[in-house]
Amino acid sequence: MNENNTTVLLGLQWGDEGKGKKVDELAAQADIVIRFQGGSNAGHTIYNRNKKFVVHLVPSGLFHLRAQCYIGPEVVCNPLTLVEEVRQISTAVPDIFDRLKISVRTPLILPYHIEIDRCREIYKGKEKIGTTGRGIGPAYEDLAGRVSIRVIDLFNIPKLREKIGFNLFEKNAIIQAFGGTPITPDEIVNQWQKAGVFDLLPKLAMREMPSAINEAIDAGKRVLFEGAQGTLLDVTLGTSPFVTSSHTVAGAICTSFGIAPWKLQDIRGVIKAYTTRVGSGPFPTELFNEKGQQIQRNGGEFGATTGRPRRCGWLDLPAVRYAIQASGATQIIIMKADVLCGFDEVKINNSYTFEDSIISHLPIESIADVIANNDIVLPGWNNCRDDKNLALFISRIQENIPVPISGISIGPNREDYIALR
Ligand code: IMP
Repeated sequence: MNENNTTVLLGLQWGDEGKGKKVDELAAQADIVIRFQGGSNAGHTIYNRNKKFVVHLVPSGLFHLRAQCYIGPEVVCNPLTLVEEVRQISTAVPDIFDRLKISVRTPLILPYHIEIDRCREIYKGKEKIGTTGRGIGPAYEDLAGRVSIRVIDLFNIPKLREKIGFNLFEKNAIIQAFGGTPITPDEIVNQWQKAGVFDLLPKLAMREMPSAINEAIDAGKRVLFEGAQGTLLDVTLGTSPFVTSSHTVAGAICTSFGIAPWKLQDIRGVIKAYTTRVGSGPFPTELFNEKGQQIQRNGGEFGATTGRPRRCGWLDLPAVRYAIQASGATQIIIMKADVLCGFDEVKINNSYTFEDSIISHLPIESIADVIANNDIVLPGWNNCRDDKNLALFISRIQENIPVPISGISIGPNREDYIALR
C-alpha cells in the first residue's frame, strides 16, 4: 500500500459533531479541501478575523490562504446559496475565484426540489422526516433518475431552459398533486439571471475534477475530504428512513471521484462526548429531562442551518461502534467534552435491551425497538484541563471502541484541545 497525505474527516453520529473546528484546523495544512456529499443542509460557523461566517456549501479551507477548495460531483448545489456564499466570503477572501472550484457535473438544486421537499413533509404529517427543507432528497432523486440539471448546463441558457421545461412536466404534476403552484422555466432562469448565477458559477466550473484529485493524491499533496452530516444519516447505512439522501461514509469518496479505496488510509471519525439529533427518527439515548436541556444549553445545540433545537442524549457506544465499522474510521476525535463539565454524574450507553436480551451491538434496522441501558455511570468533572474524572470518561470510551482516540476537544478555541497521539 502506498503512503499518501490524504485525510478524511467524517461525523459518526447524526451530524453536528463539531467537525467544523477540526476541519478548519486540518484545512490550514491542506493543499486541497474537498466537499464530496450533501448540500446546503450542512452548515458550519467560521470566525475569520473576528467576523462570523456561516457556510453551507463551500469548503472551509477557503478561509486559509493556500488551499484549493473543490465541490464534488455528488454534492447537490443550490446555485443561489453558492452565489450568496461566494459574495459574502469574497469580502474576506479576495482570491476566491482562483481557489474555489465546482465540478461541471455537480447537480443543481432547483426551486421544484425545494417545493417537493416542503410539500412531502407537510403531506407526511406526524411521519415527517424533519428535513432541512433545502430540497436535498428530491435533488438526489434526480441524480439517480438521470435528469439532474448540472453546472455544465449553465453554459447554454436556451438548452437549459428546454431541460428545465422537460423536468417541469413531471415536477409540476407532483407539485399540483400536493396542491402547490406550478413553476415555469422562465421563473427559474430569470431568478438565476437576476441573482448572477450565470455570471458566477461558470467562473468556478472545473472539468475532470476526479483526475485532478487522483493526480494530487499520487503526487503526495495534502488532500482533505470534509464530510457533512454523519454515518447514522447515511442514505443506506443510517437509520432509514430518517436519514439524508447521500452517502456520508468514506466509501462515498471512492464513488464520487473514482478514488481507489486503498488510497484512503487516514479516516478520522468525529463524535461528541454525548449525542444529538435534529429532525425525527429513533434516538435510543435521548434525554427528556433537565439533563438533556442542560446539554442543549451548555452545548448551544441549535442547528446552524435551520436554527432548530437539537435533541440531546448520552453518548451511545454501540452506535459509535457501528459507525466506526460502516464509515471505515481509523481514529476517533471526541468533541465538546467541556459541555459536560459541571455535571455531578455522566452516563455512557454501552449496551441495549432488545427482545428481552442484553446486546452490545446496534441492530440498525431495529434501532427504534432498543432500550439504552446507559450502563457506564461515572462521576462528572469540573475542570477539563486536568481532571481525573474526564480522563476516566475517555478511558472508558477507549476500552469499548476498536480504534484509538487521537484527541479531545474541550472548548471552541483551537488551543482547547488535548492531543492523545
Ligand atoms: P435533509 O438532508 O434536509 O433531507 O434532511 C434529512 C434528515 O437529515 C433530517 O433529519 C435532517 O435534520 C438531517 N440532517 C441533514 N443535514 C444535517 C446536518 O448537517 N446536521 C444534522 N442533521 C442533518
